Amino acid sequence: MILELIGYLREKLREKVEPVSIFSMIRTLCRMGHPVLRQTARKLTREDLGSPEIRALIADMRENMHHYGGIGLAAPQIGESVQLAVIELEAGKNRYGSEDALPYTVFINPEFEVIDVTEQGFWEGCLSVPGLRGYVERPRHIRVKYWDENGVEKILEAKNFLATVVQHELDHLFGHLYVDRMKDTRLLSFQEEFQQFYGQAPTLDEDNV
Ligand code: NI
Repeated sequence: MILELIGYLREKLREKVEPVSIFSMIRTLCRMGHPVLRQTARKLTREDLGSPEIRALIADMRENMHHYGGIGLAAPQIGESVQLAVIELEAGKNRYGSEDALPYTVFINPEFEVIDVTEQGFWEGCLSVPGLRGYVERPRHIRVKYWDENGVEKILEAKNFLATVVQHELDHLFGHLYVDRMKDTRLLSFQEEFQQFYGQAPTLDEDNV
């Protein structure tokens, strides 16, 4: 009964005001093996951005990213096959300096181009591949074109650690997981073994994306 009431209020409030973060919903995290993680997600239209469902989803992305302890989250990871991802990288949270920081950012319909093809390697983790770390090399400097949550076109240049985080997140929108990007699958490790044997290697530390 209480749950029904909350559900009813949630729907009613969404019709009137936005975002309704106090009514955000924690959604089930999809893990490797779920087909939604292997699909190319649908692009959003500006009409979509005005719909209650997508407004609610955008609000939920932030709550879910924080709930699951990620520094990034893509909509397919919570079962929604649309081109929407979020990243929040606090300065000082990683060992690569403040230039890699990014305030909470919503990426809609993102596309990127590589500015510097030189690759850099990090041990990546992923909320959809829990308990594992894998060594992945990706271009170290990219430029991303995307819409923000209001449909305004934006451009972001990302280097170093942030470039890896952005590419990892965008991969989720096209059906790719970081394990697909590994050149040497011998460098796939459980987290405990990673800490025991590779503890000094460049890593996303406790961060998952
Ligand atoms: Ni991920």
